[in-house]
Amino acid sequence: MSSAVMTTDQIRTRVRELGDWFHNMDLGGVQTAPDHYLGDYPGVKWRRFANAIPYDLSGRTVLDIGCNAGFYSIEMKRRGADRVVGVDSDERYLEQARFAAGIAGVEIEFQKMSVYDVPNLRERFDVVLFMGVLYHLRYPLLALDLLFEHVTRDLVVFQSMLRGNHETRRFAEDYEFDEMEHFDDPAYPRLYFVEHRYCGDETNWWIPNRACAAAMLRSSGFDVIGHPEEEVFICQRRNATPEHMKREGERPAWLKR
Ligand SMILES: C[S@@+](CC[C@H](N)C(=O)[O-])C[C@H]1O[C@@H](n2cnc3c(N)ncnc32)[C@H](O)[C@@H]1O
Repeated sequence: MSSAVMTTDQIRTRVRELGDWFHNMDLGGVQTAPDHYLGDYPGVKWRRFANAIPYDLSGRTVLDIGCNAGFYSIEMKRRGADRVVGVDSDERYLEQARFAAGIAGVEIEFQKMSVYDVPNLRERFDVVLFMGVLYHLRYPLLALDLLFEHVTRDLVVFQSMLRGNHETRRFAEDYEFDEMEHFDDPAYPRLYFVEHRYCGDETNWWIPNRACAAAMLRSSGFDVIGHPEEEVFICQRRNATPEHMKREGERPAWLKR
């Protein structure tokens, strides 16, 4: 049955059939995750940084990596984006996303794909959303480098869970071998390694502090041009390729075109 003509009861049944939802959305009067542990998520977060994203996205393309049930993909389409592609490594979430977009009456291309495979898209997007995915990755810098090298034309909207110190301080670009104090400074960029699981979730691998998130983005070729919300960084792709990508030994085959 076309999702556009479903009754509220039918929507409720389908929402239940589609399993547990991480995105709480209002689909024709049915809440998909009313008991979310983060409240009305991600609506509550979106409202805190929505103003930092161009209100009119007409003429632009958007790639939503780790799109989950499509909350942000749908919002981008509502802002008039010409084309929105949502990818996620979990087919269960993509099924939810297809259903949600159908109820919302927007056309979005959803496909199963890991962030590590985005070069296969063979396309650059004006806006890339990379939200809530970094800390789920065993190879986080590889993912950011791939975003730079293969799919970003202009903006990246980045979000990560952050832990540890939230201060940002300037550190020197280099230190002598016997200078060690900065390593004990809690504001120094730190990436916490999760060997087993965090919050019962074994897909949490690396959690940055705020300075580290910003430093990783810069290192992968993105200037942080906005920080509208604690965990959200609006970034612009630099034209210049980061130095490390030019050093042959640090440029493995899978990073190349
Ligand atoms: C915490 S949720 C964030 C969802 C959404 N982006 C948001 O900000 O609300 C993480 C999402 O990333 C997806 N994910 C995890 N590892 C991934 C990978 N390697 N490639 C693509 N998506 C991945 C998960 O399936 C999940 O949908």
